[in-house]
Amino acid sequence: MTDFTVEAHHNPTSAERIAQILQDPGFGTHFTDHTAVIDWTAEAGWHNHRVEAYGPISMDPAAAVLHYAQEVFEGMKAYRHDDGSIYTFRPHANAARMNRSAQRMALPQLDEQVFIQSLEQLVAADKQWVPDGEGEALYLRPFMFATEAFLGVRPAKEISYRVIASPAGNYFGGELKPVRIWVSREFNRSAPGGTGAAKTGGNYAGSLLPQQQAAEQGCDQVLFLDPLHDNAIEELGGMNVFLVTNDGRLLTPALTGTILEGITRSSVIQLAQDRGLTVEERRITLQEWERGVDEGTITEVFACGTAAVITPIGELVDGEKTIASTGTGEVTQAIRDELLGIQTGTVEDRHGWLHRLA
Ligand code: PLP
Ligand code: COI
Repeated sequence: MTDFTVEAHHNPTSAERIAQILQDPGFGTHFTDHTAVIDWTAEAGWHNHRVEAYGPISMDPAAAVLHYAQEVFEGMKAYRHDDGSIYTFRPHANAARMNRSAQRMALPQLDEQVFIQSLEQLVAADKQWVPDGEGEALYLRPFMFATEAFLGVRPAKEISYRVIASPAGNYFGGELKPVRIWVSREFNRSAPGGTGAAKTGGNYAGSLLPQQQAAEQGCDQVLFLDPLHDNAIEELGGMNVFLVTNDGRLLTPALTGTILEGITRSSVIQLAQDRGLTVEERRITLQEWERGVDEGTITEVFACGTAAVITPIGELVDGEKTIASTGTGEVTQAIRDELLGIQTGTVEDRHGWLHRLA
């Protein structure tokens, strides 16, 4: 165990204000009173593990992250169970993924136990911020970035790791409803040998312009295609994709190194197999999607991720053409209910995915 020092906020948010925020948390706009922080230098390694008051970061204008985007992040959630205890979901998987992302971005490795401890420490300080409504949770955002003031292009020798937390409802706002997706024909998210499999800010910066184009077409998210095989689907800007067939199969793009290895994706695969569904991880073309919907062999399509949970895809807009799907199908709903049930403690955690935080 590493010791974290805890310096409590001297003027924390009132219980009334927290209650007001938790009534309609939205996504990513309200932040809790504390943050977990660990510093790293090339000489000293990780040190100064602490929980302190949430607030602005003072950083040199030459900090490497501001120029060369040397940073990685994670996304996970803390769920309140009926007895008031608080759990998170598969944190070792997030810790391992952060280290894979860090490796790609030439950032230091953080011990998995210390990563998990940073979540425990933060949630212990801010546990009154964990909502308990349907589909609601405290979103946890661990991130690591280069703080060294140096304009030469090389891995920074000073790094900061932090965790912030934000109460979260539906990522798309309001009640759960099928979303509309825009196929980006002009822009790709990643390419072989690039950074697509790492959870790093630049991938998201690059998705903003196509996302803006999607919004102009009345769409909620962008679907990116394989840059080499133009009609194979990859993933959305912040979610993985599944297609459900009428003969009990679940199709999802294979992990070829250009898409993010979603922890929700891997959990959906397990839960689908538990139900006797066959999961095919392979190349899926837009033509297969379109033809399947036309012929009635593809009956449901959904997106999944920590922020999005499982969200049905209602329409796919490809230029002038719209491929309609069903609304929230039975398989989508059943897997969503089971996943959320495990996360919130109402369905047995038969795979040992939960980790108690507080
Ligand atoms: N793909 C991208 C690009 C993402 O940003 C995310 C979200 O983290 C996912 C997929 C889903 O990953 P996870 O299920 O681990 O949240
Ligand atoms: C998550 O699901 O945790 C993400 O990081 C996706 C992001 C678009 C909010």
